[in-house]
Amino acid sequence: MSTISLGLSARSGLIVLGAALGAACRTSNTAATLPNQKVTFPSEWRFKPGDQGTFAPTSMVASNSSLASAAGDEIIRAGGNAVDAAVATGFALAVTFPFAGNLGGGGYMVIRMADGRAAAVDYREIAPLAASRDMYIGPDGKLTNESVIGYKASGVPGAVAGMTAALAKFGTKPLRDVLQPAIRLADEGFVVDSVLFASLRGSREYISRFDGKAVFYPNDEPLQPGTRLRQPALARTLRLIAERGPDAFYKGEVGDSLVAGMQRGGGIITKEDLARYKPEWREPIASTYRGYRLFTMPPSSSGGVTITETLNILETYDSLPPFGTAAYAHVLASAYQRAFIDRNSKLGDPAFVQVPLDKLTSKSYARELRKTIASDKATPTPQLERTITEGMHTTHYSVVDGGGNAVATTTTINNGYGSGVYLTGPGFFMNDEMDDFAAQPGKPNMFGLVQGEQNAIQPGKRMLSAMSPTIVVDPAGKLLLVVGAAGGPRIITATSQVVLNVIQHNMSLPDAMRAPRLHHQALPDTLRFETAGLTPAVTDSLRAMGWGVASVGSVANVNAVMRVNGGWVGVTEPRDRGPSRAVGH
Ligand code: DON
Repeated sequence: MSTISLGLSARSGLIVLGAALGAACRTSNTAATLPNQKVTFPSEWRFKPGDQGTFAPTSMVASNSSLASAAGDEIIRAGGNAVDAAVATGFALAVTFPFAGNLGGGGYMVIRMADGRAAAVDYREIAPLAASRDMYIGPDGKLTNESVIGYKASGVPGAVAGMTAALAKFGTKPLRDVLQPAIRLADEGFVVDSVLFASLRGSREYISRFDGKAVFYPNDEPLQPGTRLRQPALARTLRLIAERGPDAFYKGEVGDSLVAGMQRGGGIITKEDLARYKPEWREPIASTYRGYRLFTMPPSSSGGVTITETLNILETYDSLPPFGTAAYAHVLASAYQRAFIDRNSKLGDPAFVQVPLDKLTSKSYARELRKTIASDKATPTPQLERTITEGMHTTHYSVVDGGGNAVATTTTINNGYGSGVYLTGPGFFMNDEMDDFAAQPGKPNMFGLVQGEQNAIQPGKRMLSAMSPTIVVDPAGKLLLVVGAAGGPRIITATSQVVLNVIQHNMSLPDAMRAPRLHHQALPDTLRFETAGLTPAVTDSLRAMGWGVASVGSVANVNAVMRVNGGWVGVTEPRDRGPSRAVGH
């Protein structure tokens, strides 16, 4: 009882903060270019349509932490652009959202500047030089859990290198300035809210095995809502980065402390691993869907290819069945199933494997795949694989500035609190991204993904990701939507469904985010729907068509910003508790 009331007061503290920043004024959210369709959701579904989202006329930041969104907003108010703000938000998330925000992980950023330039930074972790193909296979031939938990689970972190590279190329402010909000939050602390409390409570057993216990479980209890979390070690790390740039992390004091901490616990990351880490600038995948243009993430993430392939298949239909029908679920899941088969068997780090990118993202290939979809029955994944195959936690933030520049960033340490390993020296959690490799090709990983040889472990290789930061431009060439998600492979399905809900089903962004989501990842060969998100009549019809159908609690965690009349609407994941965490002005 006391937990709940304290949690609410902590949350109302956040609302006050938002209001003080002039953030959360609410108004009409009709998209500038789209008719707002009246939507109906199944009667038992947990959300009703018609919510408004957070409106602001000039700029908007939507992340999983209102304090981190406010950090980005502060930088835009001080004259920064969307890239400055995204980097400020990214570093602030490492402080206020340790569940997924990070310095010990990696991610992807898609940038589209108002002048039309588009770019993508790949700052995914890489396998340490001492990593080997079978390092997670035990003497009994079975997979151990060392790719998920503990010191051996980490790839070499890319977060600091990626964010600073993006700032140097597209930002306007010095690193020192954009780091200030994060340094302040780490130094002065922030009030623990009920969401952080609940996530710490849920991860107690996991984190307490390692050195984060003293910081996050003083007196053996998770930090209580309403208390202040100060992180002096992290503040020091951030200050060193502000003073010396990424070298402080990759070639200096922070890295030394990281390596010492990891090696004490039996980890394999060395100073050489850190010194040779480089983020990669990549051409975003530029695709189209019914006249809209999408800029999204190429490999080493699978997100952009899989979304593009799915949308290309859907575009082969002159029109799609109405939202919520069995016919729509059939077509959507069939498209995902085919795109995921390619994802799981053909994608990997392009520095190590040849990825048939042009083919997989082409409209002609989508037409071929379309021919394999029957109108009235499901195709089992193994049967399709023979035809097609040739041979928690993450966080997404979306930022737009007053000049029309946009940034979509997804970053992760994989599980919530990563490998569970907290390094007391530099003051942050390390990732367990090694589990995104196919630790034993052909065997499912933590997300049930069955992946092939192209994603086997090799030293220096990036593990395949599902992260899908995406920017959508309308047929008139104007920025429309910035979107992405957390949720393992469900990132791909949730992100693409928000895009489809907006541009195919003409939903407002709040409705597009509240609409029930589906998921199919080829294997397991099951069409998953959010509980009560399909009516019993629809699930019956799908079963009759041969689909394995099962419900899941929630599909992914999306944060998005969309252009509307007179400004921007920001919508943070409605499946999360608490008020909107979007901040704009
Ligand atoms: O890169 C990936 O695809 C995964 N490491 C993402 C993990 C994730 O989203 C977990 N969170 N909910």
